[in-house]
Amino acid sequence: MIKNIKVKNSGIVKLQFFDDFPDGNLVIGESERNIPFKIKRFYFIDYLFNPKANRGFHAHKKTEQIIFCINGSFELNLDDGHDKQKIVMTDPHIGIRLGPKLWHTMKKFSRDCVILVVANDFYKKSDYIRDYQEFLRYIKTK
Ligand code: TYD
Repeated sequence: MIKNIKVKNSGIVKLQFFDDFPDGNLVIGESERNIPFKIKRFYFIDYLFNPKANRGFHAHKKTEQIIFCINGSFELNLDDGHDKQKIVMTDPHIGIRLGPKLWHTMKKFSRDCVILVVANDFYKKSDYIRDYQEFLRYIKTK
């Protein structure tokens, strides 16, 4: 399990968890409690059947997000422009903060992987930085 985050603008979010074995797990996130903002949007990514899939490759200017792997596993790579960190996402109860100005990529998805993301804002194309050199320039100016 991930213990330390060394990149900037990230962090660990722990969901509340009730183990009702063998009748299931109950996992809970609450706005402005364990989720550190008001949730305006969520999205999930599933059917990751391409073992060579690569996703992400962007940073946000302002949007805050928390990313969860609620089934299966994948590799999350974070880069704040100075430090990089690889996190293997396997624990459905642990989310990783994708704060502003954090370049992130995802790969090595298990076939049964399901990713859930909660965000503090609606989708805004203008909030995305999709060019890595532009990202490096952006973090120097802000
Ligand atoms: P993208 O951000 O490229 O996905 P990923 O970072 O996981 O590789 O999003 C793919 C497409 O979906 C892109 O055209 C933008 C669109 N999109 C929305 O319309 N709304 C959303 O909330 C998100 C996350 C993406």
